[in-house]
Amino acid sequence: MPALVLLGAQWGDEGKGKATDLLGGSVDYVVRYQGGNNAGHTVVVGDQKYALHLLPSGILSPGCTPVIGNGVVVDPAVLLSELSGLAERGVDTSKLLISGNAHLITPYHTTLDKVSERFLGKRKIGTTGRGIGPAYADKINRVGIRVQDLFDESILRQKVEAALDSKNQVLAKLYNRRAIAVDQVVEELLGYADQLSGYVADTTLVLNNAIDQGQVVLFEGGQGTLLDVDHGTYPFVTSSNPTAGGACTGTGVGPTKISCVIGILKAYTTRVGAGPFPTELLDEDGEKLRTIGGERGVTTGRDRRCGWFDAVIARYATRVNGLTDFFLTKLDVLTGWERIPVCVAYEIDGKRVEELPYSQTDFHHATPIYETLPGWSEDITQAKTFDDLPKNAQKYVQALEEMSGAPISAIGVGPGRDETIQINSFL
Ligand code: GDP
Ligand code: IMO
Ligand code: MG
Repeated sequence: MPALVLLGAQWGDEGKGKATDLLGGSVDYVVRYQGGNNAGHTVVVGDQKYALHLLPSGILSPGCTPVIGNGVVVDPAVLLSELSGLAERGVDTSKLLISGNAHLITPYHTTLDKVSERFLGKRKIGTTGRGIGPAYADKINRVGIRVQDLFDESILRQKVEAALDSKNQVLAKLYNRRAIAVDQVVEELLGYADQLSGYVADTTLVLNNAIDQGQVVLFEGGQGTLLDVDHGTYPFVTSSNPTAGGACTGTGVGPTKISCVIGILKAYTTRVGAGPFPTELLDEDGEKLRTIGGERGVTTGRDRRCGWFDAVIARYATRVNGLTDFFLTKLDVLTGWERIPVCVAYEIDGKRVEELPYSQTDFHHATPIYETLPGWSEDITQAKTFDDLPKNAQKYVQALEEMSGAPISAIGVGPGRDETIQINSFL
C-alpha cells in the first residue's frame, strides 16, 4: 500500500486531524498537499489537545516524517509560531520537510484577503482572512513568492517589487489603503530565511524515493470536497483542490502510486462561511448539534452551521474523489435523538434529484428529501467493535454506507485516538 489520500468529504472539519493522527503511527510520511493555515485540525492525544493549522497532523507521531508539499501556501510567521508552540510542549519537529516550491503567504496577501471581503459586503465568501485566496491568485498569475526565493535576496526583491507594483495601485486607488513598502516586506521575509532553511527539501524526490523503497506515504487534505475550487460550491469555496487529484499536483507523486482514498465523513453536516447548505438546521436541532458536537471553528472561532447528514453530498464525494473507503466521524454526537433524518435526495423545482446538481442555480433551489431513521440513547463512546454499537446505531451506519457508495471502514465515537471502531484496515 504505497500511498493513501485522506480528505474531507463534506465542507471541512470532518475530523481529518484525528483520522490522520490515528494513521500517523503506521505510516512513514504524512504530507499536506494544499491549503494553508485556513485549516484547523484538532488532535487529542491522551489528555493533551493540539490545534494544528499548517503542519501535517503526522507531526505528533514520533516515527513519522511530516511534509509540507508544493501545493500548500505557507505563512512563515504562522509556521514558525506553530513549530515553537509544539517544541515548547515537547513535540519533536526536527524532521519536518518543506517544499521549496510551496508559495508564501505574505502580509499583503492577508491584507488583500480582508479588504476584498469587506469590499464584497453582502456577497462576501466568509473567508478565514488568512490570505489564502490572494496567495493562490498570485501563484496562478505567476507573481507569487516561493519558499526557495527566501534564499536569494536579489530574486526575492525583484519578485516582491513585481507583485507590489499593481497591488499597491489596487490598495490605494480601489480600497483606499496605504501602499505597502517593498523594503519592509523583503526585510520581514529575509528574517525567516535562516529559521526555515534547514527544513527545505526537494520533497517530490524524497516522497517518490520513499514510495519506491516500499515506505508508506499518507496525503492529508485540508478543507473538504465541497470547498474545492473546481468541484465545490463555487464561488463559496477555498482557492485550492482538496479533492484527491490535488494530492498529485500538490506533491509531485503520480496517481498510479495511490491505492487508497479515504473520505472523512461526519455523521451529520457542518459548514463555516457563506454558501448553499441544503440540510442546514436553523432550529433547536441545529443548536443541539453545535453544542454537543462542539462545532466552533478552530481557526476563526466562528460557529459552524449545522445540519443533518446529506447522502447526495457523500455520493458526490465518492464520485469526484474515487473514494475507496469512508471514515465516519462523530457518531457519538447523534446519541440521544429519538429519530434522525437523513437527506437521501433533493427536490428541485418539483423534481426528485439523486445526484448533486452541477448548476449553481439548481443547487441553491435544492430542498432535502428526508428519510428518518430510529435513534439510540445508549452511550457509545466506549464501543470498540461494530457489534458493541446499539442496533439502531448499527442500522444508521449501514444505511449511510448503502447511500454513500463506499464502505465505512472506521467509525469515530469520540475525539480521542482510541475512540475509534476500526472495521477494515486502510493499510
Ligand atoms: P478537521 O478540520 O477535519 O481536522 O476537523 P476539526 O478538528 O476542525 O473538527 C473536528 C472536531 O471533532 C475536533 O474537535 C475533533 O477533536 C473532534 N472529533 C473528531 N472525531 C470525533 C468523533 O468521532 N467524535 C467526537 N465527539 N469528536 C470528534
Ligand atoms: P479544515 O481543514 C471549514 C472555508 C471558509 C470560507 C471558505 C474560503 O479545518 O477542514 P478561505 O480562507 O479558505 O479562502 O475561505 O472556505 N474554509 C473552511 N471551512 N474547514 C476548513 O478547513 C476551512 N478552510 C476554509 O470558512 O467559507
Ligand atoms: Mg477544521
